[in-house]
Amino acid sequence: MCSRIINAKNFTILILISHIYTINACEIGYFRCNSTDICVAQRKNCDTQQDCPDGSDEWNCGDRYLDQFWDHYYRKRPGAENDVQRKCEWNYTGQVCSCKASDILCQNLGLTSIPLDLSPDSNIDLLDLTGNIFRMVTPSLMSTVRSAKNLVLRHCSIENIYPGAFHYVSGLQTLYLDQNELITLPSNMFSPDNQLEILVLNGNQIEFLPNDVFAELHNLRELDLRNNHLQSIHSKILEPLQSINILYLNENHIQHLNFNSFPKIPLRILSLQNNRLTQLIPGVFRNLTELQHLYLSENQIHTIRNGTFKNLQQLSALYFNDNFLELIEEDAFSDLTNLSSLYLTGNRIKKLTKIIFQGLQNLEYVYFDEFPLCRAARHVRVCSPKGDGISSHYHLLDNTLLRGSVWIMAMFAVVGNVLVLLGRFLAREPNAIHSLYIRNLALSDLLMGVYLFLIAIADQRYRDCYIDYEEIWRHSIQCNFCGFLSTLSCESSVLILSIVTWDRLVSVTRPLARLQQSRRKAIIHMISLWSIATTIALAPLTGLANQYFGTEFYGNNGVCLSLHIHDPFTKGWEYSATMFILINTIALIFIIYSYSRMLQEIRISGVALRSTQETHERAVALRFSVIVLTDCLCWVPVIFVKITALSGVHISEELYGWLAIFVLPINSALNPVLYTLTTSMFKQQIRKMLVSFPCKSIHGRTENDQSGFDSALSYTLPHGGDNRRNLIKYRVSFEKRTENTSIRSSRSNNSNRYY
Ligand SMILES: *[C@@H]1O[C@H](CO)[C@@H](O)[C@H](O)[C@H]1NC(C)=O
Repeated sequence: MCSRIINAKNFTILILISHIYTINACEIGYFRCNSTDICVAQRKNCDTQQDCPDGSDEWNCGDRYLDQFWDHYYRKRPGAENDVQRKCEWNYTGQVCSCKASDILCQNLGLTSIPLDLSPDSNIDLLDLTGNIFRMVTPSLMSTVRSAKNLVLRHCSIENIYPGAFHYVSGLQTLYLDQNELITLPSNMFSPDNQLEILVLNGNQIEFLPNDVFAELHNLRELDLRNNHLQSIHSKILEPLQSINILYLNENHIQHLNFNSFPKIPLRILSLQNNRLTQLIPGVFRNLTELQHLYLSENQIHTIRNGTFKNLQQLSALYFNDNFLELIEEDAFSDLTNLSSLYLTGNRIKKLTKIIFQGLQNLEYVYFDEFPLCRAARHVRVCSPKGDGISSHYHLLDNTLLRGSVWIMAMFAVVGNVLVLLGRFLAREPNAIHSLYIRNLALSDLLMGVYLFLIAIADQRYRDCYIDYEEIWRHSIQCNFCGFLSTLSCESSVLILSIVTWDRLVSVTRPLARLQQSRRKAIIHMISLWSIATTIALAPLTGLANQYFGTEFYGNNGVCLSLHIHDPFTKGWEYSATMFILINTIALIFIIYSYSRMLQEIRISGVALRSTQETHERAVALRFSVIVLTDCLCWVPVIFVKITALSGVHISEELYGWLAIFVLPINSALNPVLYTLTTSMFKQQIRKMLVSFPCKSIHGRTENDQSGFDSALSYTLPHGGDNRRNLIKYRVSFEKRTENTSIRSSRSNNSNRYY
């Protein structure tokens, strides 16, 4: 129902008209294929699957402006184009430097002056003096290279440039002064008839520029002032640059821009990336009418106001990524009628309305942090991201494997735990308290199964059109209920497992204390445990705590889990961290400690019979380690990923989906198997029920003890003759030991001693 590919062939006339007037015949959110009249949904463009018959929905998916972003970051080495062609093209007889094509290379020679063997009048195309030590650039130093067209003075420890320094080099077209120690530049550096087109000053410490510093540079096309200490820029400085196309001011300390910052100059590329801008006043770029690329990334701007981009009709790419952007006013982009690429990643935008993007009729690529924002830009062909690792534009659970897994895990958890509840309900058991714990554990795990079923059903319901309902779903009562269920299940499960472990530990280490535990006390334990877990899970939903938790504590993602991996510092993160890291870690450490304590205890008690002891020990150890291992399997990845996310590492988005659907519920699916279904007592009970024997095993001591033992081992050991004999031997030795203290205690003990 949701995927509408409108076949416009039925509307031949309409299409004919649309061909004539080049109207896009598809409705909003759909894009026409190149050679047919089929319309394809936004999300099907550039998804690596051909949907158009001619495959044109996968054309033009690489955003060319993205490459330019990196080009503006890294400057090509001058003279790199001559790397291949090596033969010297003119008569160079000097000893110091080398010649390649029409270039003279004098790099890293420790020179303090320019070699005299360069004949000053020969036509040097490029003179590369990188890595020498000049400290000062004076007119006389430069008089020897009068004819150079391109001059590289990179890494030359230059601290000072004298006025008129380049007056003699009037044919100069490119000048590299980058990576030096300049703090300022003099006025009158170049002669009035200079030909300079490119001036590179990046990587200096320039703080201040006199107003007339570039007064003679009428031919300058590109000015690179990257990576300096400039705090402001003034139109007086830029005004003489009437040919300038490219201005790099990135990586400076510019805090404010005002109406006087940019004069009327023919700039096409302007980079203000990585400065300290906190706001942009409307109309600040109004004089730059020819601007095509504007880099404003890595500043601290939080609002884009109406009119900020006034007069920028030519702008085709706007880089606004990695700011503090929270609000874009409705008319903010209305001037950018030619904008083709818009980068808004790394911001704090939570909500956008369609109106913001309405005017951007030529927008082809838009980049957000979260896929739901794409809803506001339906008419844009490529909107990124396409999903969040769990959900996508189409589906709540995007991965087919994940979609299947959720049903299987749900089935396992529900069926297994219902079986346990039924089984333990119908069969009478020797140890009521222990059984009570296990039943509660099953109930808690059952909740996880229910949670998974609810998610699976929601996934089914929103299939193919999730993005339309995404927000409704995440804020719905059902989603909050799902979050509540999973949290309740996780917390109660952790607490019950800890209590069960405690119970076993006590019964092994202090057999006598075991007797004092009453059923009533156990019930009270359970009630308080459930109350604690319910309170923990319910707290984020109460109106009282809205201030702290916000409205998206559970609805942060499509599976309604408060794990918050993508957004580790979202509202209420401390709570989520406490839940998933602190409680789980403490429980895990306690469980590991307890089981190793128990093993130790068993080893001590079994000293009497050396030969048989080892087999038994290994078996008990195996079963215990399986129990601890599944706990670890579930919790360690969760704890680890959560800590990693909090420490600022980006977590792979796919991993999150698997964590939520597969890892977190794994305990719930496995607990019934571990604690009940594989114990031979359970098997016996089932067998009995099937053969419909009356249950009177409460006094059958041997049988009970047997099952107590078996339950500890059946998971790992076959009931083969040898093992069985060894175990019985062991048990006899064990009973001998305990009988000395109290027959009674050994009796009540054995039944649940090594579950
Ligand atoms: C921005 O422009 C929109 C549309 O014209 C208008 O509704 C809104 O009030 C403006 N915002 C501000 C802060 O002026």
